[in-house]
Amino acid sequence: MINSVFLMHRRTDLWGPDALILSFLEFGPDRFLDSRLYKYLTPNPYIFAPFGAGPRICLGQQFTCNEASYYLIRLLQTFFSFSLALDAQPAEDIPPKTWTRAPGTSEGRDRIMLGTHVLLYAKGDLWVRMEEANDETTL
Ligand code: HEM
Repeated sequence: MINSVFLMHRRTDLWGPDALILSFLEFGPDRFLDSRLYKYLTPNPYIFAPFGAGPRICLGQQFTCNEASYYLIRLLQTFFSFSLALDAQPAEDIPPKTWTRAPGTSEGRDRIMLGTHVLLYAKGDLWVRMEEANDETTL
C-alpha cells in the first residue's frame, strides 16, 4: 500500500476548504497557529504525518526541526530577497496550461512541478566487513 502524505495534507475534508493554500505560492503557516489548529489538527493529529505517526514516529523529528530552524535563520540572515527564476527552469518542468482548470488542482497557482520518488535500499540489507585501522594501514 502506498500512502501519500503530500496528498493527505491537501485533503479539504481533513484540513478545511483552503487546504490547497499549502501550495508553494500561498504557503499559509497560520493554519498551525489560528483557530484552524483547534478545528482540524488538535482533534485529529494523525492528519499531519511528515514524520509518520504512532509508536514508530520518527525519532529525529525534533532534531530535524531544530536543524531546519537554524538553517532557515542563517539563510535569512544572509539573503534578503528570494524570487523564482522561472527563466532558468527547463520548459518541460513548467506546469502545462491545461492544469489551470483541472478540478482538484491549485487552479494555476503552481509555477513549478514536483517530482516524487521512493528511497532506494539494498535488498537483504547491506552487510559489510570492516577492519580496524592501525599504524600500518593508515597513511
Ligand atoms: C526532514 C527530515 C526527516 C523526515 C521527514 C523523517 C521522516 C520519518 C518517517 C516518515 C519515519 C517513519 C515513521 C513511521 O514509521 O511512522 C521516520 C522514522 C525514523 N526516523 Fe526520521 N525523518 C527525518 C529525519 C530524521 C533524523 C535526522 C533522524 C535521526 C537523527 C531520524 C531518525 C528516525 C528513526 C530512528 C526512525 C525509525 C523510528 C522507528 O521505526 O521506531 N529521522 N522518519
